[in-house]
Amino acid sequence: KMKKITIAIDGFSSCGKSTMAKDLAKEIGYIYIDSGAMYRAVTLYCIEHNLFGPDGEIKTDELKQDIDKIHISFRLDPVTSLPRTCLNGNDVEERIRTLEVSSKVSPIATLGFVREALVRQQQELGKEKGIVMDGRDIGTTVFPDAELKIFVTASPAIRAQRRYDELRAKGQPASYEDILHNVEERDRIDQSREVSPLRKADDAILLDNSHMTITEQKEWLINQFKRAAQ
Ligand code: CDP
Ligand code: CDP
Repeated sequence: KMKKITIAIDGFSSCGKSTMAKDLAKEIGYIYIDSGAMYRAVTLYCIEHNLFGPDGEIKTDELKQDIDKIHISFRLDPVTSLPRTCLNGNDVEERIRTLEVSSKVSPIATLGFVREALVRQQQELGKEKGIVMDGRDIGTTVFPDAELKIFVTASPAIRAQRRYDELRAKGQPASYEDILHNVEERDRIDQSREVSPLRKADDAILLDNSHMTITEQKEWLINQFKRAAQ
């Protein structure tokens, strides 16, 4: 019989972490949590509550006052069985995926008090194990004892192309140049922030999926799971 374990999938932006995490969770019957969606939901809250100043600066004191009023939850879509992100009870799954939110989220994710609040919720969600969580600091900070840790990377041009194709398919086209800039800028901010920066945990397995198909990476990941859960 296989053990119930914790699976942490971290890596650079838009390289397929959530696609891999979702596919694996579905295959093995685990809960899937997209931690990036939580940082995106906090960012949407800031946009909607006017917590960004005219030059994009964050009104940190006001956000600090509001942080305990920001409740993020996930509701399973009855058709796809995939979690949809809710902010204070409202479904915001589409609204957190825009390029506007993508361009504002990484500065929000540098704030220590935001990270503390979200990490606490993430640890609570994972306390029974049987979870696949993707993000930037899952293997380093949220679940340092996870039995399986993957760190995903792919070339920036390939990642930007994947995001470009995805936004087009959703009917929200954006320029390839803007997307590439966003991907590189977020990588830079995520790696250089002071509080739990993006880095590979020493015990994480590195996967460069630049030249892998979704099916190939899914099979690779299922094999990693079988080995780790033995
Ligand atoms: O899916 P994509 O790569 O576009 O990003 P995401 O996973 O939705 O995460 C959005 C942003 O949230 C990242 O660029 C990070 O700035 C932040 N984030 C983080 O700091 N820590 C996490 N565990 C997850 C996301
Ligand atoms: O979560 P993360 O930002 O790392 O990536 P994602 O939201 O899963 O998006 C990756 C995009 O690349 C999706 O549109 C996938 O269909 C596509 N893709 C992939 O995930 N893996 C490949 N090997 C090729 C394409």
